[in-house]
Amino acid sequence: MKILVTGAGGLVGRAMVKVCADAGDQIVGLNHTDLDVADEQKVNATIERERPELVINCAAWTDVDGCELDPQHAQEANARGPEFLASACRSIDAQFITISTDYVFDGEKDGFYTQRDQPNPQGVYARSKLEGERRAQTAWARTSVVRSGYIFGPAGTNFLSTMLARARRGEHLRVINDSFGTPTYARDLARQLYRLGQLDLPGIYHVVNAGDGASFEDFARAAIEIAGLNDQLLEGVSLKTLNRPAPRPRNSRLRCLLSEALGLEPLPFWRDALADFVSTQTQEESTSRLAFTPSPFGRGLG
Ligand SMILES: NC(=O)c1ccc[n+]([C@@H]2O[C@H](COP(=O)([O-])OP(=O)(O)OC[C@H]3O[C@@H](n4cnc5c(N)ncnc54)[C@H](OP(=O)(O)O)[C@@H]3O)[C@@H](O)[C@H]2O)c1
Repeated sequence: MKILVTGAGGLVGRAMVKVCADAGDQIVGLNHTDLDVADEQKVNATIERERPELVINCAAWTDVDGCELDPQHAQEANARGPEFLASACRSIDAQFITISTDYVFDGEKDGFYTQRDQPNPQGVYARSKLEGERRAQTAWARTSVVRSGYIFGPAGTNFLSTMLARARRGEHLRVINDSFGTPTYARDLARQLYRLGQLDLPGIYHVVNAGDGASFEDFARAAIEIAGLNDQLLEGVSLKTLNRPAPRPRNSRLRCLLSEALGLEPLPFWRDALADFVSTQTQEESTSRLAFTPSPFGRGLG
């Protein structure tokens, strides 16, 4: 199958390109410089030129606080981008998958959010992502929306790599202890996206690693424990104390009724996925020094 991946330089995009390439598919991976998904003409020209059978949109402006300060930019990348891609897919009858977020929910529910729950996004990023879902689905029937959350992986600078690097330096770490999500390993998400591409069954899917979910603190503590580092360095803090510009849901744990009904194999438990990630990080640490971002969120997690 010929598969085109947008946002191929990002955390999920890189994992996606690798999964497709490992499966032996013909892959066109386009990073932000190659294709700005908010540029309608370039999107149309690229899809027309490449004529893929499947387009997987991993591009988004994922800076949750940045979106709050620049709603126009968020709208272009996260709402119009998926719409332009879906329309272009329609013109060549290609299947389209776009990634969305657990942040479309307001977080007021206890328990897991399923497809039966009504989205109620609270910030600019979350609203732009929900609009992207809807615009894409309206533009083209062969669209699947894949919501995920708390994504981690061995690419770039992210919440966990930052945590681990700081713990290795013996630094004090403040992590949020009152926001709960379902951690998701980018590699496992990419594998499931690939399976969904083969299925070609349009719908809204929730794709996360198995388990009861975790707070950022649970998650960081588990990573530090797996890495054999000192968890005394961790201090749990409330989201409120950090005064971030964008609101975040208190609970955004996801469960997928559709995958269960279809009998799709669940993703591995997040602690097992985390152990895999930590061992990859440890190998990378021994060869190169990780960049330091002094944010309790890292770059993504939107
Ligand atoms: N990370 C999480 O925890 C998380 C949670 C829930 C959902 N998601 C969703 O998962 C998807 C993948 O995110 P990620 O975690 O891989 O984030 P990421 O690492 O920030 O990757 C996103 C990529 O999109 C690119 N991009 C931004 N604007 C673009 C545009 N207008 N046109 C083309 N490319 C553009 C970025 O390039 P530049 O950096 O060069 O701008 C970046 O390489 C997104 O839809 C995101 O909303 C992520």
